[in-house]
Amino acid sequence: MEFATRAVHAGLEPDPAFGSVIPAIHQTSTFRQRGVGQYVGEFDYARSANPTRAALESALGELEGGRAVAFSSGLAAAHAVLTHVCRTGDHVVLPADLYGGTYRLVHNVLAGWGLRYELVDQTDLEALAAAVTDETRLIWVETPTNPLLNVVDVAAVIARKRNALVVVDNTFATPFNQRPLEDGADVVVHSTTKYLGGHSDVVGGAAIARDDALYEGFKFVQNAVGAVPGPFDCFLVHRGLRTLHLRMAAHAENAAAVVAALRELPGVRDVRWPGFSGMVSFGHPDAVGIAERVRLFTLAESLGGVESLIEVPQAMTHQSVEGSAAAVPADLVRLSCGIEAAADLVADLRAAIAGD
Ligand SMILES: Cc1ncc(COP(=O)(O)O)c(C=O)c1O
Repeated sequence: MEFATRAVHAGLEPDPAFGSVIPAIHQTSTFRQRGVGQYVGEFDYARSANPTRAALESALGELEGGRAVAFSSGLAAAHAVLTHVCRTGDHVVLPADLYGGTYRLVHNVLAGWGLRYELVDQTDLEALAAAVTDETRLIWVETPTNPLLNVVDVAAVIARKRNALVVVDNTFATPFNQRPLEDGADVVVHSTTKYLGGHSDVVGGAAIARDDALYEGFKFVQNAVGAVPGPFDCFLVHRGLRTLHLRMAAHAENAAAVVAALRELPGVRDVRWPGFSGMVSFGHPDAVGIAERVRLFTLAESLGGVESLIEVPQAMTHQSVEGSAAAVPADLVRLSCGIEAAADLVADLRAAIAGD
């Protein structure tokens, strides 16, 4: 079936007890056992498994084309993937611009346990090929990148992977626009906090594997480390998925209108938009002033909700890359275009850039 149909129905089976169209939120920490070791399915304790979480995992797996494991945040998902796949001394390739928190996880946490990493501009395929050796265990791809919105050719990365696993952070594109597992990537990770949840009311993450062994590994880490999302959070992300296709189309339409207006405005340079999704970035000498003057856009970190957000990455989401090779320009403004009326978003930006 087509994506819209799958988005609406994925992971939802009517409740077997009452027939409720939307299954219950199983707000429980544990499950009664009829006899020792006699419990329903995999549900013995809610860190190990919970039916509300299982429904979300089934939906995420279906939409990405793999098997999903849900986590309490996008970074918890990234941590599970990296710690399951890599060991002390392993070499990983990271993008030269990426979400600051992913860099911080590798640089400040995992490098302390002996993980070696290298930042590579993955749009430069020669540089990528030169960086990947037979010892490279994992190539971390983020496409489009946060915050510069560079688009990486996932198939070209896979063609140069040698022995490495290819992991794609699909947070900015979502499976509506891009399904890396279908292109041959090994793992997709998400911050479900963003477009998948879609309403800025939940923090969550997921790792989705193409093969069963990786899936089992992530599931083991989910239980062994315990960074699990609560049932209500799973319910919210799952509800968000059901309108993903409509929201992503509206986000892109608004981003296109915003981009067309920005390109005509004085002082604006380097307007970036990958041609899909609602993420836009641009340079302006008064980046901070614009972010503080807007009235409809909300000055806040994060992205992917129905309401429009604005931020200055260098001072906000990307402080952890300051001084590194992944540092971002100080004059960069990042927009997450929501699904309000495009004309209102454009008018707000026009006024803020004019200094009103
Ligand atoms: C591309 C990307 N990946 C991962 C994350 C981390 O997700 P979370 O904040 O849910 O831990 C973010 C958060 O901004 C992000 O933008």
